Amino acid sequence: MLIVTSISELQREISRVSPSQKIGFVPTMGALHSGHESLIQRAVTETDFVVVSIFVNPLQFGKNEDLDQYPRPLEQDKAICKQLGVKLLFTPSVTEIYPSEEETTIVNPPTAMTSVLCGKYRQGHFQGVATIVTKLFNLVRPNVAYFGQKDAQQVAIIQKMTKDLNIPVKVQSCPVIREKSGLALSSRNQYLSSEEKEKATLLYRSLSKAQRAFQEGQRDCQKLLQIVKEEFRSPQTPLNKGGLNLDNSLNKESLNLNDSLNKKGLNDINIQLQYVEIVEPKTLQPLTEISDSALIAIAAYIGNTRLIDNVILTVT
Ligand code: PAJ
Repeated sequence: MLIVTSISELQREISRVSPSQKIGFVPTMGALHSGHESLIQRAVTETDFVVVSIFVNPLQFGKNEDLDQYPRPLEQDKAICKQLGVKLLFTPSVTEIYPSEEETTIVNPPTAMTSVLCGKYRQGHFQGVATIVTKLFNLVRPNVAYFGQKDAQQVAIIQKMTKDLNIPVKVQSCPVIREKSGLALSSRNQYLSSEEKEKATLLYRSLSKAQRAFQEGQRDCQKLLQIVKEEFRSPQTPLNKGGLNLDNSLNKESLNLNDSLNKKGLNDINIQLQYVEIVEPKTLQPLTEISDSALIAIAAYIGNTRLIDNVILTVT
């Protein structure tokens, strides 16, 4: 495996790949886990020359988000890539990717797709993702690029963007990899204490409950959303001891209120549902009734850590 840090080295190596070879590409921000590994393994199986990038992209982090804190275990990541059969690993610096203060960016992925779900709460995030992914596509020129369904909004926006901008790449979405507990793997799970990690299983549990209702015939989105919200509210839910605030900001007062209502100690973990929405999986437009397929997506704070998850519901 070759490791390159500069754009010129990357371009030199890419130009050496025979046109008869299929290039597979997995863009990442590192701190690789089994979710990333599943994308790399699929790329290795389906293509001839696999390129992975590791770049914590400042453009997609908001001012109060975790850019500085984001884990960067580069040596460990390199070993994982090598072991999985990656041919070329690109680990550029921020100045290599963004050499000047002001640069051309992708500012306008379809508003209808960026104004829902995470887009409502992470201003500029998908513009930052679209920009880095476009730059990386132009550098690597892959035949197939692999993305996780874990970030369902991200993959839908990238699929739409590559189509609209005629970028010649197949964007392949891959299934969410979960822990046995149901918790979706994420680099951000490292921020969770073991107790928080246990509580974080509430995300998938609530989605699974709605999924079960769907499988039993429920097609009304309001009713399905209600099931998820109820699960977060439910006092019987053993993992929800700290109480739930359904508003959008972490709020000390409501935490204390919940604590006193529930007679819990101050160490209790605050669990906060940020959103739960049901949308059409490709266009991300809100649905009221499910007639074909739907994405039910959720974001929640477990303590100070924001996690996302989703499931696809398909009428069979
Ligand atoms: P990152 O969070 O590192 O994720 C890299 C890829 O791994 C994404 O396509 C993501 O959806 C996928 N992934 C993460 N957790 C997964 C899981 N549990 N199961 C399956 N796939 C999973 O997403 C990004 O980086 C960035 O936004 C990036 C696309 C690299 C642009 O900076």
